Amino acid sequence: MSAVTSQPGFLITLEGGEGGGKTTQIVRLRDRITKAGKDVVALREPGGTVISEQIRDVVLSSKNIGIAFTTEVLLFQAARAQIYREIVLPSLEAGKVVIMDRSRDSSVVYQGMVRGFGKDMIEKLNAISTKETVPDVTFLLDLPFEVGLQRRVESGKVDRLDMEGNKFHVKVRDAYLELAKSDDTGRWHIIDASQSLEAVEEALWEKTKSVLKL
Ligand code: TYD
Repeated sequence: MSAVTSQPGFLITLEGGEGGGKTTQIVRLRDRITKAGKDVVALREPGGTVISEQIRDVVLSSKNIGIAFTTEVLLFQAARAQIYREIVLPSLEAGKVVIMDRSRDSSVVYQGMVRGFGKDMIEKLNAISTKETVPDVTFLLDLPFEVGLQRRVESGKVDRLDMEGNKFHVKVRDAYLELAKSDDTGRWHIIDASQSLEAVEEALWEKTKSVLKL
């Protein structure tokens, strides 16, 4: 039984700036939890359902440079409302482990803290889109922005938000660290993501094993 979501399942989120390896790590973590005999669902935000992936295309497309900031805020929330209703909440109710590549805290950091929409306002929207579901565990994959951005450039995956200036990426990192350090629920775990992929994988697995009692 999850402490925070009061559902039989367990919700783990991976958060952090660009190029921290969340996408690679979520696959490895999913496989390890599966091998340990648990039912796992791995998802990404924005996206993860047919409707949410369509919203993702709109919100992240480099063609949509003219998107209004409020539109962007609400589209991230719309994609979230859909994935929680379609997959996350039913999976938690069915006792599954759900791991997510970004969720509510991405909006708190990117739109709320860095771009000034306000943390409290975003949290109100998050409460609606997630039906007040808070992750049991959140891993912050923390690394200097230069290292993260370099990794993205090398992988050839650069989207509209990646093209923001360097200052933006520094602010994202600082905001995540501030959020994680100010948390008093114990759900945040800061992982040094400038280590090798294997070392990060081990760190995530050790913590996951202990919280899931595997
Ligand atoms: P993605 O390609 O998934 O990048 P990453 O590998 O960095 O996770 O792009 C997601 C982008 O959307 C990323 O720049 C963060 C941003 N984002 C927000 O600004 N707010 C949100 O609520 C979410 C979920 C993502």
